[in-house]
Amino acid sequence: MSCLTSVNVLILVLLSIAFLIILHRNLLNLSDFLKQEDSDAAAGMILPFESGFFADHKIRTGEEIPVVITAAEERLGAVVAAMNSINRNTGANVVFNIVTLNESVAHLRAWLTKTDIKHKIITFEPKILEGKISNDPQKADLVKPLTFARFYMPLFIPDAEKVIYLDDDVIVQGDIRELFETSLKAGHAAAFSDDCDSASSKGFVRGAGNQNNYIGFLDFKKDAIKKLGMKANTCSFNPGVIVANLTEWKHQNITRQLEQWMQLNVREDLYSRTLADSFTTPPLLIVFYKHHSSLDPMWHVRHLGAVGAGNRYSPQFVRAAKLLHWNGHYKPWGRAASFSDIWDKWYIPDPTGKFHPIRRHPGDK
Ligand SMILES: *[C@@H]1O[C@H](CO)[C@@H](O)[C@H](O)[C@H]1NC(C)=O
Ligand SMILES: *[C@@H]1O[C@H](CO)[C@@H](O)[C@H](O)[C@H]1NC(C)=O
Ligand SMILES: *[C@@H]1O[C@H](CO)[C@@H](O)[C@H](O)[C@H]1NC(C)=O
Repeated sequence: MSCLTSVNVLILVLLSIAFLIILHRNLLNLSDFLKQEDSDAAAGMILPFESGFFADHKIRTGEEIPVVITAAEERLGAVVAAMNSINRNTGANVVFNIVTLNESVAHLRAWLTKTDIKHKIITFEPKILEGKISNDPQKADLVKPLTFARFYMPLFIPDAEKVIYLDDDVIVQGDIRELFETSLKAGHAAAFSDDCDSASSKGFVRGAGNQNNYIGFLDFKKDAIKKLGMKANTCSFNPGVIVANLTEWKHQNITRQLEQWMQLNVREDLYSRTLADSFTTPPLLIVFYKHHSSLDPMWHVRHLGAVGAGNRYSPQFVRAAKLLHWNGHYKPWGRAASFSDIWDKWYIPDPTGKFHPIRRHPGDK
């Protein structure tokens, strides 16, 4: 009898030891894991740009999907809503690389600490654009430095191969993984959505020049443009959504090519006179002429910010879209935009109280 009891005690002791060993191991793993998070933060330092990294509360794992997006002070609410819509519609490990001006960093941080948006903040130094954008004070308002951030993606995320760039005036309704899986043809550094054959383009943008093709963006009377031998009626594309292969981008020196066209434009005024506000589009059209892949049209349903957009798209079509883009004058956080009720669903209020969507009455659609 007593022999049996001591065997029992022995088993109990052994089990306890085993349990303690397992517990200890797990604690070690956890501390390893935490260390790893730290070293990720160090890897995120990008000079001459500054960057911060905040791990989110709910840890997303698996292949990283890097998304580049810009945050302009007067529309921080836009970028937060866009990122939130992406996160809520995917389980993927999305890391946002938010490019902003130094003056907005504190505001952006205050806002993002209230969210689970996994992000790095990259400070854009507008000096990089010196000599590349016109000094004409009449155009100063139109030429927003951050809109050129997409030209410099390999500088911001030097280690990534495939990345997504998004304008801030978008809402994503599909799983971003699908967009990330867009396949790029060999030798192509980027995929864009074409302006002619997309579901969004039918009969659009009258009175703003013909912005479905190259002649709407470039002055084909200028020698530098003529020499390229491009067809003026070639379908243009919209660079508000880009899937890029940065390995190929670096290989082809895309950034340098874009800069050279910007510099030449300052000297020779190469862009179309009817160009409204898309100063980033013309150099991209030149560099990627007949040399880019295409996106699924449902991943860039656009012109929601144009006059009368509300009558052009049925609610069913807008619901089925994977990505909605309010390019045009009427932004969904402003007055009189179409489909702003969709945008409102993803908006996270500003904890500092500086940003407010403009609504006629509280709860107005
Ligand atoms: C960036 O902003 C911070 C706080 O507003 C300021 O202290 C700092 O000098 C700024 N840095 C640069 C390079 O302008
Ligand atoms: C990116 O481009 C490189 C160089 O052309 C190529 O080897 C690689 O397979 C491409 N990656 C993707 C994801 O398309
Ligand atoms: C890209 O730039 C590097 C160095 O500036 C140069 O050696 C290379 O030939 C360029 N590649 C192309 C495709 O222009």
